[in-house]
Amino acid sequence: SSGVRRRPDGELEVAGVPVTALAAEVGTPAYVFDEADLRERARGFAEAFAGWRVYYAGKSFLSKDVARWVVEEGLYLDVCTGGELAVALAAGIDPARIGFHGNNKSLAELQAALEAGVGRIIVDSFIEIARLAELAAARGVQAPVLVRVTAGVEAHTHEYIATAHEDQKFGFSIVTGDAMRAVEECLGAPGIDLRGIHSHIGSQIFETAGFEVAVRRTIGLLAAIAERTGQILPELDLGGGFGIAYTTLDDPRPTVELAEHLNAMVEAECRSTGLPRPELSIEPGRAISGPAALMLYEVGTVKPVVLAGGGVRTYVSVDGGMSDNIRTALYAAEYSATVANRASDAAPVLCRVVGKHCESGDIVVRDEFLPGDIAPGDLIAVPGAGAYARSMASNYNHVPRPPVVAVADGRWRTLLRRETVDDLLALDMG
Ligand code: LLP
Repeated sequence: SSGVRRRPDGELEVAGVPVTALAAEVGTPAYVFDEADLRERARGFAEAFAGWRVYYAGKSFLSKDVARWVVEEGLYLDVCTGGELAVALAAGIDPARIGFHGNNKSLAELQAALEAGVGRIIVDSFIEIARLAELAAARGVQAPVLVRVTAGVEAHTHEYIATAHEDQKFGFSIVTGDAMRAVEECLGAPGIDLRGIHSHIGSQIFETAGFEVAVRRTIGLLAAIAERTGQILPELDLGGGFGIAYTTLDDPRPTVELAEHLNAMVEAECRSTGLPRPELSIEPGRAISGPAALMLYEVGTVKPVVLAGGGVRTYVSVDGGMSDNIRTALYAAEYSATVANRASDAAPVLCRVVGKHCESGDIVVRDEFLPGDIAPGDLIAVPGAGAYARSMASNYNHVPRPPVVAVADGRWRTLLRRETVDDLLALDMG
């Protein structure tokens, strides 16, 4: 993040607070957010996408403070479970600014969304449309709805996080006609106020080609809907998925170019279909929260291992691992690591930063050159830990989840406290 600096003595600081001070006060491991950086990224989206609704995707990381920060910077909030909705409401977010996602929202979740009066509910199946229509009618309200469609895009990203190809669980297919049928069901349901359509092509995407196809197909669908039903749906949500560099301490922000490109694509499609420009929205998560935090670990053991083909790889074990960041194990995600507490003149050696869990796939950073004198007690910083790390954390091996702290102007505070073994034991009713 932009607030991370190396001090003259070689120690890293975040927004003016040295990492050794943080480690001494909150312990390790810890997720360390740079509040100003997260706010700047949020504001950057709001400014670059002026006239759009920018929803922050809370699944990437959500706490009450973060929900407030992004809304203060002009954003809306995307939630995808009753749990995320509860955090948003507890934070005091205006429900009208909340979009509610999910391919299998429970009755209780749909009720909670209607009860709160969330701004948009994004529907994902015929069963859900019928359920929601019934619940809303029973309450005497109209649910404001977007229909999630599958744009048929092969996004260039990991299979588990690509979502717009045909053979996966999300959305209504445009090509089979399901999307049109879903729109017609919504238009025919008195409990539903159909506002538009939604497309999310996947995550950690760098090429704009996928968005280009999505814009073409979704605006084509809006035109087909107008032709068939006589209704011009006013809204188009293009989802999130904007990629970040994971391996640098200060990730640049290509938001302005992205906005210009998406605006131009939408203009062109509207011109060629004769449709008015829809009200647009996007849902970035990772691009806002990801680069804004680093993970701070302490080294526990250092073990050089002689490789079969000759050479040595040094296994640097830290006090966390796949329970606080599963992304390396799950998606072969690439991270970097740096010694955070000091400078070193020692020659770099090939290292693998690994966790403390009972399996060999418990890797934090697969390949990294670290100083040859790395030793127990050193602090390691892993950038890009703000998104999908704490939010996907587990208690594997009964490891309590680390705290999340935020630093601003030389002061830090806790967003989420560290879990304790007692927290975990309290769940055990034996
Ligand atoms: N909108 C929708 C409908 C989504 O499903 C997602 C992500 C987003 C927005 C935000 O995407 P972002 O801008 O953060 O890429 N756990 C995976 C990512 C899964 C994302 C799921 N949906 C990871 O760690 O990479």
